[in-house]
Amino acid sequence: MVSCQPGILAEVSPLARYLTFVIKSNKLAKSAVPALFDLVDGVNTVCGIGLSLVMALAKEIPGLGTFPASAGAGFAIPSTPAALWFWLKGTDRGELILRSRSIEQQLTPAFQLSNVVDAFKYKTGFDLTGYEDGTENPQAQAAVDAAIVQDQGAGLDGSSFVAVQLWVHDLGLFEKLPETEQDNTIGRRKFDNQEIEDAPKSAHVKRTAQESFQPEAFILRRSMPWNAEQRTGLVFVAFGKSFAAFEAILTRMTGSEDGIADALFNFTQPAAGAYFWCPPLQNGRLNLAKLGF
Ligand code: HEM
Repeated sequence: MVSCQPGILAEVSPLARYLTFVIKSNKLAKSAVPALFDLVDGVNTVCGIGLSLVMALAKEIPGLGTFPASAGAGFAIPSTPAALWFWLKGTDRGELILRSRSIEQQLTPAFQLSNVVDAFKYKTGFDLTGYEDGTENPQAQAAVDAAIVQDQGAGLDGSSFVAVQLWVHDLGLFEKLPETEQDNTIGRRKFDNQEIEDAPKSAHVKRTAQESFQPEAFILRRSMPWNAEQRTGLVFVAFGKSFAAFEAILTRMTGSEDGIADALFNFTQPAAGAYFWCPPLQNGRLNLAKLGF
């Protein structure tokens, strides 16, 4: 039976750890890939493959590209590609750390761990600004239709394309704003999560309203707050059946269409961004047929 990695559709877990790896040895990369069969169950460990690894294997995944770097007035959107991405979901920080170590040990020396981010669920799924995140996520079959590849053939069906960005918040700056301005930044009221109809055009939900795109741009967001020492923010994670919806939304956020940038950029900016292809599962095991395994 073919399915997506179920951890994509499931709710976010209380704790998570994101790992990215780059290729250290092109020669060894191919022989290290089969380790993924044991390391990734798709439920507690979700995995994505970057373009550099697909190319090292001399294969092609239609639709998988490199995260587009861009910029707007006063901010830059960086592209920081990697070969492998792991989203470790769990409830016990110790277990997540030990699972990370085991993944790292099995992928070394072919791959090198390039980044680790510890993340967590705040309340029932809030951003650290105090706003509920994920309200307008598609649900049930609509989530599958937005996030999972269908009718593209064996090896691709059940897969998903994920855009991952590390956003660094200046919470001090945001907290100084009066609550009405905070609400106008997001476009929803903090105290009851109601959408503000007459919010400014720069409000985040005005910029990103999924039905307002042609074609409609639905994505499945599975973002989580993160923290490392004094730095904090949101790991923005969006799954799609392609990157088209994500790119349309991000382009509008930058203001490149109409000169109006998303008000989010006033207090938070992305420090990293990458694209990965999340292979499907077959009988509970990663299906890597498209990569030649
Ligand atoms: C620090 C970065 C971000 C924060 C704190 C944030 C926060 C939020 C919040 C609080 C909402 C309203 C509730 C909801 O529907 O989820 C929202 C909505 C949304 N965000 Fe973000 N977001 C961020 C970045 C992004 C990015 C990079 C994208 C896509 C490129 C995006 C796409 C969306 C979409 C599609 C919606 C729903 C819009 C609708 O259809 O109503 N967000 N976000």
